[in-house]
Amino acid sequence: MWFFWLLIALIVIKTYNKITNGKCYADNVMSGKVVIVTGGNSGIGYETALELARRGAKVILGCRDEKRGQKAADSIVKKTKNRSVRYMHLDLSSFASIRKFVEDFKSSEAKLDILINNAGASGVHRDRTEDGLIRDMQVNYFGPFLLTILLTPLLKKSAPSRVIIVTSTLHRFGTISDLNNPHSFIRTYCDSKLCNILFSNELARRLEDTGVSVNSLHPGHVNTSFYKATILEKLRTMIFYTFFKNPIEGAQTSLYLAISDDCDETTGGYFVDCKPGYMGMKARNEDLAAKLWDMSEQMVGLKPEETI
Ligand SMILES: NC(=O)c1ccc[n+]([C@@H]2O[C@H](COP(=O)([O-])OP(=O)(O)OC[C@H]3O[C@@H](n4cnc5c(N)ncnc54)[C@H](OP(=O)(O)O)[C@@H]3O)[C@@H](O)[C@H]2O)c1
Repeated sequence: MWFFWLLIALIVIKTYNKITNGKCYADNVMSGKVVIVTGGNSGIGYETALELARRGAKVILGCRDEKRGQKAADSIVKKTKNRSVRYMHLDLSSFASIRKFVEDFKSSEAKLDILINNAGASGVHRDRTEDGLIRDMQVNYFGPFLLTILLTPLLKKSAPSRVIIVTSTLHRFGTISDLNNPHSFIRTYCDSKLCNILFSNELARRLEDTGVSVNSLHPGHVNTSFYKATILEKLRTMIFYTFFKNPIEGAQTSLYLAISDDCDETTGGYFVDCKPGYMGMKARNEDLAAKLWDMSEQMVGLKPEETI
């Protein structure tokens, strides 16, 4: 009997979650737009890229693994009949790879309308990258920082253009006090997500009046392969299915920020379920954001002529 009531409770929760999930209702066509989606080969990134391609955008999937990236691009082309979808190699754990990606992108595309910093990692928090940084920190924050700064001149030239940064509600538990030492995977993740949102806010301030908008978002708790690397994998059961969004639902806020006319004039915002969300106190601290920016420029080895 208890199983019956448990099942009913799970169905009620799932139905409630479905009803309250934010949805992107914008019906804009995206033909003529050039979009980069990092980590576009799986989960939220794949669904974001798929929907943008369906609406006619030229979509570049920035992925670290050629096989997975190419497979995702082929699958999107097949599903949407949009042939302007391609994979380009981008390993966010390597500054050399990021610089090469930007050079290759600039030599093949004359403009960039939307940059979606979606890729993220969790669980490789003790490894160091070839650049000497903690791997998760570099993939989640320092890499996207460098990528975005290097693409900013092109974004400005292509204005109105948009930068979208996928962060997490867990930014509330982050700190920026010790970013280059190993911590638990959850601490590193929270720190990196606080950095994402501080960066988003500071970039929005620096790009005010340039026509480049910058917003961050929490996609919700989404049942993707993201949890593979952690002990949470073992919990990917009916409970996950019940409480978590599916990847299509998880992509809605990224799509809303990329597509909707409502976001034309919006910058420096943080969104959850396609509407403004509540930023943690540290995320709203402008001094902290400026301090992080200076630290980040040094850690990614930004050249003086590249600063913005
Ligand atoms: N799922 C959630 O509940 C949740 C909640 C809050 C925020 N988020 C954020 O949402 C974003 C997307 O995550 P997801 O849930 O869709 O997980 P996912 O399916 O695991 O996607 C993560 C993507 O990032 C890519 N990636 C990992 N390391 C990379 C690297 N070094 N260089 C380039 N790309 C790399 C992965 O590529 P590979 O396939 O090659 O590994 C994959 O395409 C992340 O930023 C995550 O922090 C997710």
